[in-house]
Amino acid sequence: MRTVLLANAGCMTTDELAPPAEVVIGGLSSSSSATVLCDEDRAEIAHGRFLYITECAACHAPERVLAHTMNAWDDILPRMAKESKFSDAETAAVRAYVAAVHRWGDPRAGHTTPDG
Ligand code: HEC
Repeated sequence: MRTVLLANAGCMTTDELAPPAEVVIGGLSSSSSATVLCDEDRAEIAHGRFLYITECAACHAPERVLAHTMNAWDDILPRMAKESKFSDAETAAVRAYVAAVHRWGDPRAGHTTPDG
């Protein structure tokens, strides 16, 4: 059993580290960027968030999603999906969630993220 302490988890709550899918989906749907999300997108984002706070937190606390750029995530996720023994669909769901948080967390989306 490996214990991994990731410094930037700090004392933030899970919802601050990994905003709930409904918050992200609601924010994207109402933002000026007018992202169109179909039901399949919503379900995939929600599934990805579920995996993120459960399976992805099996070895370490969930990392703050916005602590890494999408470029960094595209390096991290394939490695961590392997750690989690994720299927391609599960990997894609986590990426969809992480990407949605980044679109939602973009200041241009016109609303406030949990970390300010
Ligand atoms: C089997 C244990 C394990 C699982 C499951 C796991 N991780 Fe990790 N994770 C690690 C270890 C060990 C490190 C630190 C060393 C490294 O980078 O390999 C780490 C580091 C990280 C980092 C820091 C950045 C980096 O490149 O090291 C992030 C972000 C991360 N994990 C996200 C995730 C996500 C998202 C998932 C789910 C897809 C996940 N982890 C699942 C063990 C795990």
